[in-house]
Amino acid sequence: NNLMNIAIDGPAGAGKSTVAKLVAERLSYLYIDTGAMYRALTYAALEKNVNLEDEDALDQLLEGIDIDLKHTKNGVLVYVNKADVTELIRTDDVNKHVSLVASHPSVRIEMVERQRTLAKGTDAVLDGRDIGTYVLPDAELKVFLTASVEERARRRHEEQVKKGLPSNLEELKKDIARRDELDSTREFAPLKKANDAVEIDSTSMSIEEVAASIINLAKERA
Ligand code: C5P
Repeated sequence: NNLMNIAIDGPAGAGKSTVAKLVAERLSYLYIDTGAMYRALTYAALEKNVNLEDEDALDQLLEGIDIDLKHTKNGVLVYVNKADVTELIRTDDVNKHVSLVASHPSVRIEMVERQRTLAKGTDAVLDGRDIGTYVLPDAELKVFLTASVEERARRRHEEQVKKGLPSNLEELKKDIARRDELDSTREFAPLKKANDAVEIDSTSMSIEEVAASIINLAKERA
């Protein structure tokens, strides 16, 4: 049986991580949340008051940081040098700054190396922005998952409300659109559909439907 890497890329809030987690679970593959890695560095930089425009400073910070994605019964926990930052990397503050941190080439080069190491020699599902185009150009299956900005914002809003957190739909829409713009216009490995990726528009699909179609594609290619 050949090893399989599945790349799931797409804009913010398209449901990549939910779907990737589900697909990985069903296929007993390793799930690698690459966005969590950029978020972890952003969180650490904000904590230490590192200037987020300063590529060298961020690069140095990253050198001294272990980012662990620990798989537990309760989901994937994210650790920075042994501290659990799972919740801390999902704040508005991190949302607002992560794309700037992720725009620096030397940060990306180090992250990509770590991601390739994690995915090597194992069946894995990776979600991110540049997995199919840059991290794993030879991935057996590449999916580009999209949804309209309105729908993506609506889903986030619903999640927040369900958690009892304050949420503003218009703000969410702006935030998502801004992050997409930064991610797809950056110079180094921008968000882009790989030529050989299968595009799935999830605007009017359920998570179950999206996961099922990815699993079908994976089975076809196994
Ligand atoms: O997927 P998530 O929304 O958690 O990613 C957070 C941010 O990390 C993205 O908006 C993007 O700026 C950056 N990112 C990236 N490349 C990846 C994954 C995430 O640049 N492979």
